[in-house]
Amino acid sequence: MTAIPEHHVVGRRTPRVDGEDKLTGRADYTVDHRLEDMLYGYPVPASIAHGTLESLTLDAARAMPGVVDILHHGHFPDLHRSPNSLRQGDAVSEVRLPFEDDRIHYHGQYIALVVAETFEQARAAAFRVKARYHRDAGVVTGLAASDDTGEEVGHYMRGEPELAFGIAPVILDETYTIAAESHLQLEPHATLAEWRDADQHLIVHESTQGVFYQRNALARIFDLPPERVEVISHYIGSGFGNKLFMWPHAVATAAAARWLGRPVKTVLPRQQDMMTTGHRPASRQRIRLGAEFDGSLASIQHDSLTETSTVDRYVDACGGATPSAYACDSVATHQRILPVHHGTPCPMRAPGEVSGVFALESAIDELAVALDMDPLALRLKNYAHQDPQRGLPWSSKHLDRCLESAAERFGWASRDPRIGSMGDGDEIIGQGMASATWFAGRQPCAARVTLRADGSVFAACGTQDIGTGTYTIVAQTVAELTGVPVGRVEVRLGETRLPAGPLSGGSMTTASTLPAVAAATRDALAALQEVATGPGGDFDGLYPASLGVEAGALVAEGRRVNFAEILARHRLSGVTGEGSTAPGDERQAYSFRSFGAHFVEVRWDPGISRLRVARVVSSIDVGRAINPVAARNQVEGAIVMGIGMGLLEGLDYDPRDARLINANASDYRIPVHADMPELDVELLDYPDYRFNEFGARGIGEIGLTGVAAAIANAVYHATGKRLRDLPITVETLV
Ligand code: MOS
Repeated sequence: MTAIPEHHVVGRRTPRVDGEDKLTGRADYTVDHRLEDMLYGYPVPASIAHGTLESLTLDAARAMPGVVDILHHGHFPDLHRSPNSLRQGDAVSEVRLPFEDDRIHYHGQYIALVVAETFEQARAAAFRVKARYHRDAGVVTGLAASDDTGEEVGHYMRGEPELAFGIAPVILDETYTIAAESHLQLEPHATLAEWRDADQHLIVHESTQGVFYQRNALARIFDLPPERVEVISHYIGSGFGNKLFMWPHAVATAAAARWLGRPVKTVLPRQQDMMTTGHRPASRQRIRLGAEFDGSLASIQHDSLTETSTVDRYVDACGGATPSAYACDSVATHQRILPVHHGTPCPMRAPGEVSGVFALESAIDELAVALDMDPLALRLKNYAHQDPQRGLPWSSKHLDRCLESAAERFGWASRDPRIGSMGDGDEIIGQGMASATWFAGRQPCAARVTLRADGSVFAACGTQDIGTGTYTIVAQTVAELTGVPVGRVEVRLGETRLPAGPLSGGSMTTASTLPAVAAATRDALAALQEVATGPGGDFDGLYPASLGVEAGALVAEGRRVNFAEILARHRLSGVTGEGSTAPGDERQAYSFRSFGAHFVEVRWDPGISRLRVARVVSSIDVGRAINPVAARNQVEGAIVMGIGMGLLEGLDYDPRDARLINANASDYRIPVHADMPELDVELLDYPDYRFNEFGARGIGEIGLTGVAAAIANAVYHATGKRLRDLPITVETLV
């Protein structure tokens, strides 16, 4: 372990460097991006979920003003499926190519793409396309409608969970379900595709969490070398996993642009966005716990079933966090998937684990009730001081501190555990808590940094800022190492022409990107030190590494010379450094995870059937927060999403034909300001220097895990009703 570095900019509250661009409308989002001579695409969605497209009648649509062409199965170019490999970096969200055959797998699947001179013309014409289908019998919608237990796709086991469950004096065996959820990100999916050099060069603007994945997949699909495909994503109106990997609209748009010889932009309408670009799959989970009378867990069994589509096999691994959650010798998880006639589901913020943690942390609360134990005490009783899954020490785990600190701020000690015992006027107060956890991962990353003649610094990395603040933390890192103010650091992200950066996913961006940016910055500084100590330099003859770096200047022997002066003396426009970093072998010696605790107060007014979350107190342990403003904002946003998951959100499918009923932002319920309680979020500051030199693990997802369980546990405390199906609605309480 190295000594703890002292940081001046990293770890400080820093306003977003891109804030002004966003507020003034200069930020270049894909949906807003325009090109000369651009056409507009509008997909035509299938209106059945399962069957065959027999014919399309296009005459009326073709005759509409501004229509240029309509692409469909009958005349669509031959393309190659992407190999869809995470390892090769060409993963896609839906493997089937658009218009590949005449089969229909879900409502909303594209059966044609209308291309017209304006968006409105394309849209109007799309409504004039007539389709005839042959409907197949046996539409499957949702897990509840099926007794099918699906296909096993993963399992884990240690010890003898069945045996231990069989002989445990206290047992619990319950089933939990969660409705499918929509990401409902602000900016819809959008693609703007342009071909150059006689169709040998494809440039795509896409609102994506992974420009390199999309580039590689497009290269395979259009049979081009990857360097002939560029993907650009400068600003992204958020993505919660639904923009990790490419969806069919992008392929259709690129194919249309090549077919027509003009740039084409497709912005998905909200309805299609919700039907065709992923959702958190519905899940059904069975938890079996066995415990001793003193609360020691003897057995944990966690069986999960999640939906997938009939075109792809998406696995939402609900049991992911379970093996390492508690000190327990006997643990098993089983994961199964069941194909249904919905669009393909995909990762959604804390995928799998957020569903799994709801079930497990609800079950732990139920066990506490059965044991007549405080649920906080039960968690501490079974505290995993090392990682029981891998038998390794944690690099840094302060869940105990999270639980204690949040409990104290919440006032847990004065909670009366008796059901419905805490009242305030007409309202009954319920208090519940749950733990939060999310894995800590790191990806390879490269970056380039240029110290420029005007004293500013330019930093470039191909990773994206999906709205989480990557631009700002990159600028902070450069500022930290150069002493140049954050405002003088220009950051460019989100282009495949830049050094390769990771997906903005899995809460891995910070931990992956900053080490590469730091390495590139040091490389640039070393180049400048070489220049300055060379012939005719300001520090001619000194050893390069002996020069210090201070506030945008090199210093030695009591003299300081600004970067700009050094570059000017040598008539250089700048010096550039490169950096490339990857995880080391730290995972062989330690386990890395992030932790947290949520304490929730609900108020239930039985007279008017009103249930509200009144207070959330959270403590989160993610190592060092690089920018505490943005980090807190991530956790707050995740808690809002957790309140939605607990009380409001759910995709409703028509049981007759698997049509998504609430495919719009008004009928799909999410929390609004009036639903928001006071949020008290604390970020513990235990830098994890075994993970990277800045001690940061990642913060995008952990805040969501555990929120819904804490709400359900609080609802039980208020009402005595144990609700195991999300969302919890007032109808289930009266
Ligand atoms: Mo996240 S589900 O990796 O965007």
